[in-house]
Amino acid sequence: MKTLIIYDSVFGNTEKVAKAISKAFAKEVEIAKVSEVKIEQLCGLNLLIVGSPTRAFRPTKELTAFLREIPENSLKKVRIAAFDTRVDVKELNNKLLTNMVKFLGYAAKPIANLLSQKGGKQVIDPEGFIVLGEKGPLKEGEVERVKTWVENIKSKLL
Ligand SMILES: Cc1cc2nc3c(=O)[nH]c(=O)nc-3n(C[C@H](O)[C@H](O)[C@H](O)COP(=O)(O)O)c2cc1C
Repeated sequence: MKTLIIYDSVFGNTEKVAKAISKAFAKEVEIAKVSEVKIEQLCGLNLLIVGSPTRAFRPTKELTAFLREIPENSLKKVRIAAFDTRVDVKELNNKLLTNMVKFLGYAAKPIANLLSQKGGKQVIDPEGFIVLGEKGPLKEGEVERVKTWVENIKSKLL
């Protein structure tokens, strides 16, 4: 089972989530920041997990550009999962922003959509992990939630 985790991260929180995902798999998993990943690393993959910080309701520009460059249909045999980090809308305490978030959402869904467009089959719903403020840290308990998310992915791959 060949698994690759690709992530972007500005302040290090999404990187922490990506590393926690990698650790939770126990078996050998490749992990690469989007700035370092090579398109060839997608060859022969069984599972591709992609994550980004949510920046203005979307994944980072660099991650989006990378995903757009993936050749058409090249993920046809690949199971995919997407995650993001985000701030808790309840903490924003701002009606306008809360409504914008309702309409515009977070990074994980557009990541999943881009991967699906390239032929990938979604193995689990896109997931968000909460940071406390722009720079983090991750909210207490989120690393535990990462482990549960990975267990759910594993159970769907059986
Ligand atoms: C310019 C900017 C835009 C952001 N936009 C959003 C947003 O639309 N929704 C959200 O939940 N969080 C937003 N955030 C908070 C980020 O999600 C948070 O910085 C990120 O999860 C931290 O991950 P990182 O440490 O991997 O960069 C924004 C942060 C910055 C700096």
